[in-house]
Amino acid sequence: MTETRKPLLATLLGEATWPPPVWLMRQAGRFLPEFRALREKADFLTRCMTPDMAVDITLQPIRRFGMDGAILFSDILILPWAMGQSLEFVAGRGPVLEPVRSMADLARLDPARVAQATQPVMETLQRLRAIVDGPEPIGPARPGQVTLIGFAGAPFTVACYMVEGHGSREFEETRRLAYTDPEFFNRLIDLLTTSTAEMLCAQIAAGAEAVMLFDSWSGLLPPSQFRQHVIEPARRITEIIKSRHPGVPVIGFPRLGGIMAIEYGNRTGVNALALDTGADMKALAEKLPATLVLQGNLDPIRVLAGGEGMRQEARAIRDAMKGRPHVFNLGHGVIPTTPPEHVGDLIKTIRTV
Ligand code: CP3
Repeated sequence: MTETRKPLLATLLGEATWPPPVWLMRQAGRFLPEFRALREKADFLTRCMTPDMAVDITLQPIRRFGMDGAILFSDILILPWAMGQSLEFVAGRGPVLEPVRSMADLARLDPARVAQATQPVMETLQRLRAIVDGPEPIGPARPGQVTLIGFAGAPFTVACYMVEGHGSREFEETRRLAYTDPEFFNRLIDLLTTSTAEMLCAQIAAGAEAVMLFDSWSGLLPPSQFRQHVIEPARRITEIIKSRHPGVPVIGFPRLGGIMAIEYGNRTGVNALALDTGADMKALAEKLPATLVLQGNLDPIRVLAGGEGMRQEARAIRDAMKGRPHVFNLGHGVIPTTPPEHVGDLIKTIRTV
């Protein structure tokens, strides 16, 4: 065991490694039969909050495929839940929350509860870090080579679910309220900014070696609001993390941000910019500093489809980024109906140069 640098961590810190490290958004869960088997045993929140189960689910994809990164099994809605907002995951419907739409609703949330309520998540991270840094290989992954990734939803995306009370295509009520009651909405974003930074720092203290901010719905906003509710919160969160944990890389994912991704990459201070499926990564790379790590961005449907088309497209993305720090990933999460063999084929393709 002469290699000490973990490939994913080294890349996130700015080193161009070849072939690039690879992991997949939403790799823990859904598409794996061993995850679906656990579903019968406990509801989603219980799975997130029981360290034995969360550790096991986090490692399931690594055991099969040996990705370079293990992303904590949890959810972006754990934060509002930990502050006291009611949350339920309803089969076939997704998350359902008691909406937060006024200052009075906000006053019932308590960020001081988060540390205690997320204690099991921190225990999960502690155990995972001991396992990824332990002497035993995890499936095909070599010992000491897997980077543990913590995460949170970014304030705007979490606010979307908190205000709407459920998933949506447009989050109309949330975006309307941002215009009609900016005092409330700014307060909500502010509360989420500080509590997200605290929670990510706690994840790092518990063992996360890198953290990712998921802003899945940022692309719904016009540029002025994107600056206010996406870029500025990400900048503040990154600043707080860097002030306490200067060596820990932050990955930002302003999904569907289009050309605003450039400003996000330049202004937030994140180490890595995760790009969605529609982004022309090569064109963006030319407009961004060479030190900014790029992550992405194979179409998840390509992996669902599989075959030579998937392999070709995956190689094209990988090869176009050769020479700069790049983390191979998808442009969004793995589709639940993806055949696991396609994922295995993808990982092998990326690693065959
Ligand atoms: O990457 C991973 O696999 C780690 C775990 C993880 C989950 N959710 C587990 C989960 C991560 C990183 C997330 C992030 C997340 N959660 C996002 C941002 C990323 C994205 O996909 O845009 C969002 C918007 C959510 C909110 C959420 N959680 C929704 C809309 C749903 C229901 C629909 C769905 O995706 O299944 C969830 C539930 C959820 N989170 C599941 C899993 C494995 C499915 C629940 C189940 O299996 O019973």
